[in-house]
Amino acid sequence: MGIISKDVRSGSKPDRNLALEMVRVTESAALAASRWVGRGDKLAADGAAVDAMRLLLDTVPMDGIVVIGEGEKDEAPMLYNGENIGDGSPPVVDIAVDPLEGTTLTARGFGGAMAVIALSERGSMFDPGPCVYMEKMASSSEFSDLLNFDEPIGDLIRKIGERKGGGTEDVTLTVLARDRHDEGVAEIREAGATIRFITDGDVQGALLAVSEDTGIDLLWGIGGTPEGVLAAAAIKCLGGEIIGKLWPRNDEERQAALDAGYDLEKTLTSAELINGKDVFFAATGVTDGDLLDGVRRSKGFATTESLVMRSRSGTVRKIGARHDRAKLREVTGGRYG
Ligand code: FBP
Repeated sequence: MGIISKDVRSGSKPDRNLALEMVRVTESAALAASRWVGRGDKLAADGAAVDAMRLLLDTVPMDGIVVIGEGEKDEAPMLYNGENIGDGSPPVVDIAVDPLEGTTLTARGFGGAMAVIALSERGSMFDPGPCVYMEKMASSSEFSDLLNFDEPIGDLIRKIGERKGGGTEDVTLTVLARDRHDEGVAEIREAGATIRFITDGDVQGALLAVSEDTGIDLLWGIGGTPEGVLAAAAIKCLGGEIIGKLWPRNDEERQAALDAGYDLEKTLTSAELINGKDVFFAATGVTDGDLLDGVRRSKGFATTESLVMRSRSGTVRKIGARHDRAKLREVTGGRYG
């Protein structure tokens, strides 16, 4: 007879890892979107990813609800916010999807596009409501206690530089290249840090900032709120921190957020963006990026590379897969392959 009580034993035994089922879902979306790389049609690329993701999600027994999806029901035919997914059997989960994170990257054939999904316990995901954008900062746990929106970015950079045992020139930020960042970028340059601009894809930017040996110390700037929640899900699994503050684009959006009860002054931590203990995350590369290889095709086969993680166990997997294109076309009714 062991000394561990029955309750503790049953609570700590390994169970189903939904992320391993989710990787089929993101592979599917990535394979479908990859047909549209460089073809200049971001809507078609996104549509193909949504359709393929939905097809595979239907194979997963669960009671899921889409909290972060493709928009409201009247504008999105599938994976809309509030859509029920699965056959209603346990587990009962919230779902966040970005079938194609980097629609423009895909349409223009640039690197870093991914298909992304996250799951966590029901009621644990932050619902962005009308808030399209938020200010974000993400870093590894080495600097996470320093993150805040209250001090000038130059001061934060100085502290990070000191902690690295050097100066501001040793600090590298990744920033979405957007006009709204002009002032902040001037401050960062004035402080003496270096910047790696990205044209799109701040989920990947956040993951690079929290990961070791990527050369990125901090993600900074305003990006999509849904992408912030997805990044938080990944960071719950990987470690590090992301903080966010809602950023309404205009008075109308500000009022809608206030009317819906959102606090626009609040700094949201990763624990508030995803308030779950069992978070699952999967992403598959569409185009080659710093995090993942994109879909590659050879005669008869396609290969994918995916990141598959769970917060409860802390396991981070990179999964490579080879797909038989003819069989895939057969199984998916010719949707992709
Ligand atoms: P899409 O895949 O929907 O095009 O989003 C890409 C992205 O770059 C996100 O990574 C980022 O959070 C957001 O767009 C920024 O929004 P905007 O392009 O409107 O500045």
